[in-house]
Amino acid sequence: MPIPQLVDPFNRAVSYLRVSVTDRCDFRCFYCMSEDMTFLPKKELLTLEELDRMCSAFVDMGVTKLRITGGEPLVRKGIMTFFDSMSRHLASGALKELTLTTNASQLARFAQPLFDAGVRRINVSLDTLDEQKFKEITRWGRFGQVMDGVDAADKAGLKIKINMVALKGTNDDELHDMVAWCGARGFDLTMIEVMPMGDMGGVDRLEQYWPLCDVRKALESRWTVEDIALNTGGPAKYARIGETGGRVGFITPLTHNFCESCNRVRLTCTGQLFLCLGQEDEADLRAALRGFEGNEALNAAIIAAIARKPKGHDFDYSRQEIEGEVSRHMNHTGG
Ligand code: GTP
Ligand code: 5AD
Ligand code: SF4
Repeated sequence: MPIPQLVDPFNRAVSYLRVSVTDRCDFRCFYCMSEDMTFLPKKELLTLEELDRMCSAFVDMGVTKLRITGGEPLVRKGIMTFFDSMSRHLASGALKELTLTTNASQLARFAQPLFDAGVRRINVSLDTLDEQKFKEITRWGRFGQVMDGVDAADKAGLKIKINMVALKGTNDDELHDMVAWCGARGFDLTMIEVMPMGDMGGVDRLEQYWPLCDVRKALESRWTVEDIALNTGGPAKYARIGETGGRVGFITPLTHNFCESCNRVRLTCTGQLFLCLGQEDEADLRAALRGFEGNEALNAAIIAAIARKPKGHDFDYSRQEIEGEVSRHMNHTGG
């Protein structure tokens, strides 16, 4: 079994790697991307073999949870080859979890192969159950296709968690419907506070922002909400809804900072390592990967990067203005 070697200056062990395999997406969610995004030229991307080598180096140094993200990870050509290959780390016991965050558009095709590769749990980004609103939020998405994807995942035996970004004036009227639907379908639901990432043109983050303390109050007005000790290794705190038996998670970068227990770093599809979602600092791992046949330089570059991991993000809306904004869009690191 690999020996954990990745401990940051604040004594936090890094055991969770999020890997963005593409910055492209077949949707254009209005809080995430502008409509006319420019994407990285394909020749800049790490190949699937390089991604494998990169992830395996992290696993060898003690990473036990690997989450594949995008953009939309399932639009990356040949992505199943990568999942199939990563499953050897599940078989060896080095990796405890191989998973992904997806918009579900491609799941009708990929749910079963993902299960076969050892994926057991997936997170699906879905902010509304209203077909028209879905069109408005995602600009390019097709609701029916997403529902088919969710059904296929359920049928394949994948445990599903729905990620819902809390957006005032957009989906605040759907909170109870979403709790009821997730409860009935046996899905977990996680609410997320909107973070100031990437210039969104006309979108005013402060107007969108729906603090999860208010979401919680709204939940309590209708449901029995009881805190539970579940920890999925991500930043969410969970509660159980008495009436449905379902779980609701709260991801609160703005109202309750969770950086002190941060256990993760993010690799982009070009081989840059972001040490914090809310900071600009990045470390280039691609040069160390490509420059040498063995992994010595790569391992050293990873350890040097972890030594630069900052204490936390600086996102703050409390003075009624946006502070701590980062310039890159969410699709660059996949959340
Ligand atoms: P679980 O394994 O189910 O716990 O998932 P997760 O919450 O780690 O992953 P997911 O991709 O579902 O993350 C949901 C969202 O939470 C992300 O897209 C981000 O918006 C936010 N998030 C996740 N990790 C961090 C983090 O380290 N810092 C901040 N500020 N937000 C995060
Ligand atoms: N703030 C919070 N969450 C966001 N996501 C995308 N952009 C933002 C943002 N600005 C979420 C998506 C998805 C995950 C990858 O990140 O809805 O669930
Ligand atoms: Fe970790 Fe940065 Fe997220 Fe904080 S904001 S939990 S430090 S990645």
